[in-house]
Amino acid sequence: MPVTLGEKPQAGFDDPFGLLFDCHRRIEMFLGVLTRAAGLLPERALTPEERSAVERSLNYFRDAAPRHTADEERSLFPRLRACSSPEAGEALRILEELEADHRQADQLHAAIDLIGRQAVAGGSLPPEDAAAFADAADRLRSIYSAHIQVEDRQIFPVAQQLLSEPEKVALGQEMAQRRSIVGCNPKQPAGNRPAG
Ligand SMILES: [Fe+2]
Ligand SMILES: [Fe+2]
Repeated sequence: MPVTLGEKPQAGFDDPFGLLFDCHRRIEMFLGVLTRAAGLLPERALTPEERSAVERSLNYFRDAAPRHTADEERSLFPRLRACSSPEAGEALRILEELEADHRQADQLHAAIDLIGRQAVAGGSLPPEDAAAFADAADRLRSIYSAHIQVEDRQIFPVAQQLLSEPEKVALGQEMAQRRSIVGCNPKQPAGNRPAG
C-alpha cells in the first residue's frame, strides 16, 4: 500500500485554485489508503508498510486537511458570498451544504483517527473496531466523492471566473500564511511545504 505523492509538480501559491485541486487529489489518495486498510483489517493484521501508510494518511487528515477546509471556509467561500453576480447564485446556495459536509467529515475523521491509531500501533483490530473503522471510511468516501465533485466542477470554476485578480492574489497569500509561509516566492511550487 505505497503512498506516493503526485507525479506532477504541485501548483504554487500564485495559482491558488491549482493548489485547491491538488489538495483534493491528496484527499482522494489518502482516503484510498484508509479504505483499502478497512478492507484488510477484518481479515488479517496490516503489514509494517501498510501500517506506515495508514499512519501517514491519518496524519494528513489530522494535520494538513484542516488547512484546506480553512482555505475554503475562511478565504474562498466569503469572497464568493460577496459576489453579487447572478452566475454566483447557484454556487452560493450550496456553500452551506459544503460547510455541513466539512463538519460531518470532521466528526468521522475524529472517530477513524482514534481507531486507526490502534491499528497503526498493533497492526490489527478487534472485530467491532474493524467494523467501526470500515463504517467511518465508507461514510467518508461517500461524503468526499460528492463533495469534491461539486467543488471541482461547480464551485472552483465559478470562483475562478468571478474573483478578480487581486482577490485571487489575496487568496493565495492567505493560503501561504495558513501554512506559515510568509514572504515566499509565490511562483515556487508548494511541493515540499506543509500541505493542506
Ligand atoms: Fe470542501
Ligand atoms: Fe475542498
